Amino acid sequence: MADELAAGELSLRALDVSDAPELHLIFSDPATHTIGEGPKSSIADTRQWLRRRDERRREYGVTWYGVRDDDGTLIGNAGLFIGRTGVEPEIGFEIRAVDQGKGYGTRAAAAVVAEAHRAGWTRIWATVRPTNAAPLQALTRAGFVSDRTEDEGRGSLVYLYHRQN
Ligand SMILES: CC(C)(COP(=O)(O)OP(=O)(O)OC[C@H]1O[C@@H](n2cnc3c(N)ncnc32)[C@H](O)[C@@H]1OP(=O)(O)O)[C@@H](O)C(=O)NCCC(=O)NCCS
Repeated sequence: MADELAAGELSLRALDVSDAPELHLIFSDPATHTIGEGPKSSIADTRQWLRRRDERRREYGVTWYGVRDDDGTLIGNAGLFIGRTGVEPEIGFEIRAVDQGKGYGTRAAAAVVAEAHRAGWTRIWATVRPTNAAPLQALTRAGFVSDRTEDEGRGSLVYLYHRQN
């Protein structure tokens, strides 16, 4: 996948460990980082997360981007990971709380998916808690369709996919 993507006024740039201080502002914000284990308290954890992204990029080609506004400020992140759906990657995305609801999440997801298809994956997945309305709406607007809901250990998950046209 490319190092940089354009999405209207947003630009997406592959993250590396030097982005840790900026990214940590988002990862440590309880109003934003509501997924997984919740906000990260230690920047060392953010650095480790970034190093893993780098390893996954080398292993599988999946890339995670920092989402920047037209001032170059990091307002979110979006990318692919190899998760619950086997060799077909999943998308993850996050926009900091103060910038949510402006269409940025939809735009960032659409840019990552278009690049993923260009790079050769014909189907991209997303898994979302049924109560997490914002990503369900953003992903649907980016062209994802719902496949199924599965009960896994920690509750239900909606599986959605985006197939290359
Ligand atoms: C998911 C996320 C990236 C979306 O970012 P965003 O920039 O706000 O996305 P958009 O503005 O493009 O779209 C959000 C949509 O959800 C809608 N929405 C937000 N909260 C909602 C709610 N509680 N109920 C219903 N719709 C809601 C918005 O109205 C908007 O839809 P609309 O434009 O049709 O009105 C952002 O909410 C986020 O970072 N959430 C925390 C992390 C997360 O859950 N990531 C997804 C993991 S799968």
